[in-house]
Amino acid sequence: MDLYEYQARDVFEKYGVPVLAGIVADTPEEVRAAAEKIGGVVVVKAQVKTGGRGKAGGVKVAKTPDEAYEAAKAILGLDIKGHVVKRVMVAQGARIAEEFYFSVLLDRANRSYLSLCSVEGGMEIEELAVERPEALARVEVNPLTGIDKAKAVEIARAANFPEDLVEKVSDVFVKLFDVYKGEDATLVEVNPLVRTEEGDIIALDGKVTLDDNASEIRHPEHEALEDKDAADPLEAKAKASGLNYVKLDGEVGIIGNGAGLVMSTLDVVAYAGENHNGVKPANFLDIGGGASAEVMAAGLDVILGDPQVKSVFVNVFGGITACDAVANGIKGALETLGATASKPLVVRLDGNRVDEGRAILAEYAHPLVTLAATMDEGADKAAELANA
Ligand SMILES: Nc1ncnc2c1ncn2[C@@H]1O[C@H](COP(=O)(O)OP(=O)(O)O)[C@@H](O)[C@H]1O
Ligand SMILES: [Mg+2]
Repeated sequence: MDLYEYQARDVFEKYGVPVLAGIVADTPEEVRAAAEKIGGVVVVKAQVKTGGRGKAGGVKVAKTPDEAYEAAKAILGLDIKGHVVKRVMVAQGARIAEEFYFSVLLDRANRSYLSLCSVEGGMEIEELAVERPEALARVEVNPLTGIDKAKAVEIARAANFPEDLVEKVSDVFVKLFDVYKGEDATLVEVNPLVRTEEGDIIALDGKVTLDDNASEIRHPEHEALEDKDAADPLEAKAKASGLNYVKLDGEVGIIGNGAGLVMSTLDVVAYAGENHNGVKPANFLDIGGGASAEVMAAGLDVILGDPQVKSVFVNVFGGITACDAVANGIKGALETLGATASKPLVVRLDGNRVDEGRAILAEYAHPLVTLAATMDEGADKAAELANA
């Protein structure tokens, strides 16, 4: 989960990372009040989960509460790379002398952590990495030892910070790593980290990505950070039923057991779709090991709730959960859903107790259900039905 800047700011504050005052607001009136409260020059900042807000007109300096009010009017409702601004943060204005860049992230390829750092912050880091790669230090961080003071100094020197700043910025790097570790993040990025005219080092922007796998057990408090409004309603519904579901753009709903089988089902359906007007898979849904009637019903319910779905392909390989149990699951699900189940279903069963499973569905003879003998045949049939 990515955090909004204001959430990252709050987390930074909790760990002692220097930040400026910030108040979130949803209306121009609230922005004016926030600007009065903070006093002096403020910056009104769009709260959207994408970078480049400054360039897109989503970050405006305001010298008075009235200017802040006008800035809010311009920013609220703005579309920044497909994200409509519903909320802003009124931040205390900094007198910036220099802008730097710092991040620490999970480096999956090297099974390690990586810190990126530069004395040329502010601009988009992807651009810097391409245009002036030598200006971007890359320092591997051992996950077991993390960024202690010595490592932080190494990072600051690798990024060519002047010696008189190394002490101060390295203290901040250590605290940012505390955030990374303490919150089980996969990314903590500050762009810009600034030196102010007064000589302070301050995190002016923050991007934090939390590891969702850690949230449920290690950080129940992270749930409060979730943006329930912005979540895809189908994904939210699937999550509430404990299903591994990802919404895609196509027309063929997919249900399978095991992530590998579901992934290959997506490929096979996309391939079959080429012969049927280019229809594509509508989702990823792995119902896992126990394909009970309940789980099957919950899965079908989510998929049938997607108005884009025209047909559904159920592709199950019976293992510990045998095909007859799955067939009974499908039967039970169709009975539970009743009239809600209104789209054709192609079912391919194979593996443990396949004959019993197919027999159950053949005897059931539900008008919406077609049995397929193989995965290719099922994919082709489902694509054909989606295009009908
Ligand atoms: N509180 C602030 N005070 C002064 N300038 C700011 C403040 N916050 C942001 N800025 C300026 O606006 C620029 C863009 O803001 P930032 O928060 O980095 O948004 P984004 O990265 O989405 O463009 C910063 O590089 C900085 O120059
Ligand atoms: Mg930024």
